[in-house]
Amino acid sequence: MKTAIIYYSRHHENTKQVLDVIAAKHGVTLLDATKTKYFDLTEYDLIGLASGIYYSKFHKSVLEFAEENLPMDKRVFFLYTYGVKKESYTRAIEAVTSQKGAEVVGAFGCLGFNTFGPFKLIGGIAKGHPDRDECNDAVRFYETLIKTR
Ligand SMILES: Cc1cc2nc3c(=O)[nH]c(=O)nc-3n(C[C@H](O)[C@H](O)[C@H](O)COP(=O)(O)O)c2cc1C
Repeated sequence: MKTAIIYYSRHHENTKQVLDVIAAKHGVTLLDATKTKYFDLTEYDLIGLASGIYYSKFHKSVLEFAEENLPMDKRVFFLYTYGVKKESYTRAIEAVTSQKGAEVVGAFGCLGFNTFGPFKLIGGIAKGHPDRDECNDAVRFYETLIKTR
């Protein structure tokens, strides 16, 4: 079982914190979408697309990476962190993966510290997130994906 996770995590590296906890327990290949533009994912059984939420979407580097590199008919999952919970954050990335015939096997989202714009004036929102429970939930989420194979 080979997993690659392509990510963008810049604001407070919130998403990366979650991914690092998964990667510490499970052998996954982590790829920063700002550094890796082309990568052959053919040999991977499971592909994660992960990002902080930027203007209600996954960051464009992850969307573009998936458009460019995601092979047809793969199993994919989404992982993301956000300042304010909403159900619609995966729509843009889903549009890309559906064009590639991907099977979306799961999505995990949790809070991430956000000091963008006016939130900075009040010391940010979702301070302390992702927390340990959220990171552990993410590991459990990942483990359900690899067990169902
Ligand atoms: C430019 C910018 C735009 C953002 N847009 C949203 C948004 O639309 N919805 C939201 O809930 N959070 C938004 N956030 C907060 C981030 O999604 C949140 O802090 C996330 O955890 C950042 O992930 P990262 O540290 O892994 O990059 C935004 C943050 C920045 C800097």
